[in-house]
Amino acid sequence: MKQLLMAATLLVCAFAILSCGCARRTQKAVAETGESKVNAAVAMDEPAQVERVEPEIAGAWTPIRLSQEEVSFGAEGGKATVSCLNYDRWWLNDAQVAGTETFFHATPGENNTYETLKADGISACIVNRNQVEISVAPASKSHTWILHLQSGDAFTSITVKQTASMKAEKITNPTLESIAARTSVRSFTDQKVTDAQMEAMLRAAMAAPTGMNVQPWSFVVLTDKSKYEEIFKGNFNLRIFKSAAAVVVFCADTTVTRAPRNNPDAAPVTRPNGTWRDDMGACTENFLVAAASLGLGTVWTASYPYPDRYLPIKEALGLPATVVPYCVVAVGYPDKEVRPKDKWKPERIHKGRW
Ligand SMILES: Cc1cc2nc3c(=O)[nH]c(=O)nc-3n(C[C@H](O)[C@H](O)[C@H](O)COP(=O)(O)O)c2cc1C
Repeated sequence: MKQLLMAATLLVCAFAILSCGCARRTQKAVAETGESKVNAAVAMDEPAQVERVEPEIAGAWTPIRLSQEEVSFGAEGGKATVSCLNYDRWWLNDAQVAGTETFFHATPGENNTYETLKADGISACIVNRNQVEISVAPASKSHTWILHLQSGDAFTSITVKQTASMKAEKITNPTLESIAARTSVRSFTDQKVTDAQMEAMLRAAMAAPTGMNVQPWSFVVLTDKSKYEEIFKGNFNLRIFKSAAAVVVFCADTTVTRAPRNNPDAAPVTRPNGTWRDDMGACTENFLVAAASLGLGTVWTASYPYPDRYLPIKEALGLPATVVPYCVVAVGYPDKEVRPKDKWKPERIHKGRW
């Protein structure tokens, strides 16, 4: 009898362990189903993320069938359509504009009809029983939605996170327009560049910032194309230079001669200038933008640090020993329309830290 009782107890325990294991497996399988659907949807479009969070109210797990059919958040704001399948009731909750107290709630209307709720650039439309459409206006703030799904006693929630990057209203002015209009031009008309235009561009070049205000630059303006073969011997940009109305050689003194900082009254000493390349880059870009503002086309071509390019220039133009031809800019009127490239990549901007 005792043995019979022990055997029965063991049987009951084994059954309990087995059913518990099964239940866990079912829960896990269900959770995984939900998770993989959610992740598959997210992979469609970054940076929107969908995160599974724990149920807020205890209840049996029910497979979450959520698909994000359209996600296009980003710099311009955008829309996300979230579909919830096999759910009797669902609602959008706690859509919060990060850093503010703004919340809004959306629940399906009486007959699950179209309903719009708005809060600080976010609006949610209940399109039908199974679908909510979230619209985000261009903004610099991040938004978090918690989407609650309910089916019978089952209750769970999904957090939809979106970080909308800055676009706001587009500011423009003549300076920004010239920066945006600049693009490399490599073939030109015969029209001359006037002395006044050249001076305007060189004034802009010399207005650039420099380390310790050293201003290491000098410029050689060339227009006599018969000399180019010698000056630009072996330079693959020769064809471009010949097409241009003028060519400007941007020269840099790689040294600085000054009294030591801690002894301003002492005799000046010559030492390497650690920032001359940075100074020359700023100067060259100013020249290019000024040219764009005058309707002129330019192309920046490398010279230093390539000896095969800068040595013939240095020799032909008689540059002093410590001076190098940093770059050569061709300038003139473009002979055809050249469109600037779109290089705007909001994803390259990190806020606070990488
Ligand atoms: C340091 C530097 C060196 C360059 N060298 C050359 C060159 O030797 N020949 C050339 O045709 N373009 C040259 N470029 C122009 C680049 O190819 C051009 O800026 C780039 O493709 C981007 O196009 P965008 O200027 O139209 O925006 C150079 C640009 C820089 C900044």
